[in-house]
Amino acid sequence: MSPQPQAAVGAPLSRVDGRLKVTGQAQYAAEFDVEGAVHAVVVDSSIGRGRITGIDTGAAEAQPGVLTVIHHRNAPKLPYRDNSGSNNPPGRRLRVFQDDRVLFHGQPVAVVVATTLEAAQHGASLVKVRYDAEQPSTDLHEAKPDKPTNYARGDAEAGLRSAAVRLDLTYQLARNHHNPMEPHATIARWDGNKLTVWDKTQWVMGTHDELAAVFDLPAGSVRVINPFVGGGFGSGLRCWPHTVVAALAARVTGRPVKLVLSRRQMYLGTGFRPSYEYRVRLGSDRRGRLSAAIHDIDAETSSYETFTEAVMGAGQMTYSMPNVSQAYRTVPLDVNTPIWMRGPGFASASFAIESAMDELADRLGIDPIELRRRNEPSEDESNNLPFSTRRLRECYTVGAREFGWQRRSSRPRSRREGDLLIGMGMATGVYDCGRFPAEARARLDADGTAVVEAATSDMGPGTYTSQTQVAADALGLTMRTVTFRLGDSLYPPTSPHGGSATMASVGSAVVDACNQVRQQAIKLAVEDRESPLHGVDAADVVVRGGRLHVQGNPARGESYRSLLARNDRTHLEARGQYAGAPSPARRSYFAYNATFAEIAVDATLGLVRVRRMLGVYDAGRIISPKLAESQAFGGIVGGIGTALLEHTVTDHRDGRIVNANLADYLVAVNADVPEVRAIYLDGEDNDGNLLGVKGLGEVVQVGVAAAIGNAVFNATGRRVRELPITAEALV
Ligand code: MOS
Repeated sequence: MSPQPQAAVGAPLSRVDGRLKVTGQAQYAAEFDVEGAVHAVVVDSSIGRGRITGIDTGAAEAQPGVLTVIHHRNAPKLPYRDNSGSNNPPGRRLRVFQDDRVLFHGQPVAVVVATTLEAAQHGASLVKVRYDAEQPSTDLHEAKPDKPTNYARGDAEAGLRSAAVRLDLTYQLARNHHNPMEPHATIARWDGNKLTVWDKTQWVMGTHDELAAVFDLPAGSVRVINPFVGGGFGSGLRCWPHTVVAALAARVTGRPVKLVLSRRQMYLGTGFRPSYEYRVRLGSDRRGRLSAAIHDIDAETSSYETFTEAVMGAGQMTYSMPNVSQAYRTVPLDVNTPIWMRGPGFASASFAIESAMDELADRLGIDPIELRRRNEPSEDESNNLPFSTRRLRECYTVGAREFGWQRRSSRPRSRREGDLLIGMGMATGVYDCGRFPAEARARLDADGTAVVEAATSDMGPGTYTSQTQVAADALGLTMRTVTFRLGDSLYPPTSPHGGSATMASVGSAVVDACNQVRQQAIKLAVEDRESPLHGVDAADVVVRGGRLHVQGNPARGESYRSLLARNDRTHLEARGQYAGAPSPARRSYFAYNATFAEIAVDATLGLVRVRRMLGVYDAGRIISPKLAESQAFGGIVGGIGTALLEHTVTDHRDGRIVNANLADYLVAVNADVPEVRAIYLDGEDNDGNLLGVKGLGEVVQVGVAAAIGNAVFNATGRRVRELPITAEALV
């Protein structure tokens, strides 16, 4: 097969769906106009743990427009077939309205269905629930952890004991919520025993599988549609209880039901990045060569499901050292179950590890970048595999040069501008990018246009655009003549749109499908006596702009259109596949960054302002430079939030989230975001995907909080080991 010329891949294109989005034509889950739809509003528990002893629905039901109130005493029993796929963590998932137990504050305890949203909201406010309340346990530091998951190499205790320099540091990380712009929402409609839902999700197949399991339906009876996602960051990676509530309400009322979570309910009804306590002990020699690290990691989970994430990886492979031990313990609390949030695990671990490295650099009087260089491994020491690509040294060199790292004073609190203390910090980021099984279908029509489909999502990275680029080049078509469709469970199945895996996974399936279609066309041409390409070796034919021709001889060829017309073909079609990461792994496949921050701290008020940020990324080949830059900006903005602002606050007396709104839960806004620059090192990583990519949607957020924290230390001489870093901690 001759290599296809690249025209679309690598070009700085704008989003193909940009116009639809800015003109309001892109339809999000709640915006579908489903005829006859009525409205559902969830009533959530006002206790943090206990039992429901009574529900008075009379006042609600008496309201005009209210159709019904559903709760555990009148809801049909649901099969809730086991479904360990679909990202349900181990445990017993929350079963809506199936019993009187309250497992966390804000759990759905009833739903009011009405002909208007206002009637449903008013009805929900009139439902009186009586409880037998128990004291909930919501404090990570007070509750009893589960048995740990352990990792060890060498003898970390002995390595630490014999180290010339030892640090013992404990970091606290607040719970974060995703806060996408678009609220989670579901419209559910039954047609006989067939269920259709329009649902905000990052995984239509996951929602499909979960609904089939909950209602015990055969796979073909559920369809999940979600062409646009207004942000997710991980909150859409599993099917949450409200989606089941909507389907249940639709079944009970016999009407299509629309259910939109309020902003407050987004903190109650979907997951979150769990809070952590992360203790790290480091041992090194006087020149900064690490000998040992011990990581004790505690993270919250719910009482009914054990959520875990990849928080152990970074401590095993970021730096070279003979002795490592780790214990990762989940702590069951009376809370909703957590879920992955951008850079899951790695972003949390990096705050502890990268802060600790900065503390070690300060203790030893070694430049933080130099310290990291001295501990750069030559292979992945967790599994002794070679790195597929690892260009961290270049990230450091380019980052230091472009950021002006030489202007950093190694002495903390030594740069001052009036009331402002100025500091610079950096951190390393690593992320274990996923590669999951995926399928795609490509169809080339007689008019020379193509449609490519896969059941993936686009929560914002620009999947519509980047997959169109990949498909256009593989088919030899222009961007304009290719349409990529996603977000429908009827399309070829894919794995979750998450884990930074979509381009490597879905992209590889798309390339496979498009390559097959192109080759079908080439075969047709070289075997067709009437084609100018008749008799040419198929391997010598390329396609460009919809025209097949001999490589190096554009004059000899013909268009897809003339070829298909002459051969009476309405279309050519193929299904492509990607099997997932090579198994067993032959290489260690990670994306990397060096992230730099310059901040100013008001010496009297303690206010931190980020002044400049730079990320330098080793993320393999860049398919779509504009989209990649946008991902980096978003990741850095998210990291600024984690570093300085974001904190889901729970009142441990009753388990209530006290800041379940966007006025009190602070996220970074324009005024918090400084000049940001992103540099992607040019390159390919060919470990097991056809595109040479590594994922880039998550590595961009890993290390950001640590870089800012390290800059705060450099500016003030104060080490804050608790996220978010607040003014109170600095005055
Ligand atoms: Mo990402 S946390 O896998 O959406």
